[in-house]
Amino acid sequence: MAPIPISPTDRLFILTGAGISAESGLPTFRASDGLWAGHRIEDVCTPEALDRNPALVWQFYSERRASCHAAQPNPAHIALAELESKLGDRFFLCTQNVDDLHERAGSARLVHMHGELAKSRCSEECGAAPVEDHAVYRTLDEVGRCVCGARLRPHIVFFGEIPLDMDRIQREIARCTMMLVVGTSGSVYPAANFVHWARQGGARTIYIGPEPPLNTAAFTQVVEGNAGTVLPGLFQI
Ligand code: OAD
Repeated sequence: MAPIPISPTDRLFILTGAGISAESGLPTFRASDGLWAGHRIEDVCTPEALDRNPALVWQFYSERRASCHAAQPNPAHIALAELESKLGDRFFLCTQNVDDLHERAGSARLVHMHGELAKSRCSEECGAAPVEDHAVYRTLDEVGRCVCGARLRPHIVFFGEIPLDMDRIQREIARCTMMLVVGTSGSVYPAANFVHWARQGGARTIYIGPEPPLNTAAFTQVVEGNAGTVLPGLFQI
């Protein structure tokens, strides 16, 4: 297909989901062999799960950390980092992913709306800032403590919790002229609404992934294919 032109006045907002890391070997959530296939969300990704069985929650996220350490950025992550280097502050990346493959590819203007695997924070929400934590814990006893004494929890937005950086995200969507969404099924809110907000603001909206997402009707263009194949060379600046 012909490259999509980006003009000197365009502002690009990008939303990525698990699909962009699939070609790095990290499983998505809702595929038949995905992360949620072997786990009930309410056992590993809710505040209640953390209260009830913190050992299981930490086991799940320790396994995610180990997979992430072993993975490398793929051509899709690298293409976005290159786009950022050309567009500067006309580029903004919001990822639902908790892996750090965007950063390792060179992206800097990004937010992790669902948290970050490489950080932990106070399980009692004492107000202390999240801390860098790459540890893969084998037992609950190994998990570190916050300065207040409470046990650390993964810095992950659980179901029922409010996504991070929403004010900044809303500001960036309001001023974008083009929204590119990559590798997300459109089933988790508020992220699944971003495309509607962008359309209301008059932006062009493009989806990339091997199958149409649930919110496909809100896109002006759907490019079917794997991100690592489609993204490099997709834009002409
Ligand atoms: P899903 O597993 O729901 O969707 C992954 C999407 O990636 C699907 O639409 C696939 O078609 C697509 N996909 C697969 N391989 C791809 C490839 N090579 N290139 C491009 N796309 C590909 O994952 P998310 O939509 O990211 O939240 O899930 C959203 C949230 O639900 C996650 O952030 C997580 C989860 O519960 C939390 O844990 C808070």
